[in-house]
Amino acid sequence: EALWCVVPAAGRGMRMGADCPKQYLPLAGKPLIAHTLERLAAHPRIAGLLVVLGARDELWPGIETLHGKPVRVAIGGAERSDSVLAGLNALPSEVENADFVLVHDAARPCVRAKDITQLIERASETDGGLLGAPLRDTLKRAGEGDCSLATEPRDQRWRAFTPQMFRRGELVAALGAVSNHGRAVSDEAMAMELAGFRPLLVEGAEDNIKVTTAADLALAEFLLARTA
Ligand code: CTP
Ligand code: MG
Repeated sequence: EALWCVVPAAGRGMRMGADCPKQYLPLAGKPLIAHTLERLAAHPRIAGLLVVLGARDELWPGIETLHGKPVRVAIGGAERSDSVLAGLNALPSEVENADFVLVHDAARPCVRAKDITQLIERASETDGGLLGAPLRDTLKRAGEGDCSLATEPRDQRWRAFTPQMFRRGELVAALGAVSNHGRAVSDEAMAMELAGFRPLLVEGAEDNIKVTTAADLALAEFLLARTA
């Protein structure tokens, strides 16, 4: 059974500091977001895409179908969690509250099909989960003046990626609860943790980078060619 994927693309790319939001920067001959959507739509387990755009987005190319799958749009909000919530609420009526949905950053164009498959297969057996990878570097806790105060244990520390997969109704409730309490969450899994769930961490390739700075663009171009 196939799932819908919400793609938050309403950010402004402040850290990139380009003339346009980073999702529209050219990458290997087309806008960055086109690579992300292409990989998602090509996946056999994905039924449709719900792309969340900024309120005054004039660069969205107006894609309506991709690989024969519907591509819908919604308007996002100030925080990523607002954008995801808007996307979840704009899913077509065929998507039920009990259905799993995926959420994948527009800014992660290098996601691999086999990792999406792994996430769907493994997290379907649970209340949901996310792609990530165990931390590889030694982790320091910094104090004032960037002095290292302590070395944190590295075991049981993971970096969180997307896609993340949860049941639509449970994720809407979890994101709604954090927004009512005025709390910021950096990903869907954090909202689910606060709601008492224990999302499954599914190890994925490290090359599923979130393009954040100009250097990441060059790396993404290399990775895209390598993992096509
Ligand atoms: N995003 C969104 N709505 C927001 C903020 C972010 O849909 N209000 C999306 C971004 O477009 C991106 C993903 O969430 O695809 C991850 O966010 P991030 O990498 O932080 O992108 P930006 O917020 O655009 O970048 P920055 O934080 O540097 O401004
Ligand atoms: Mg941001």
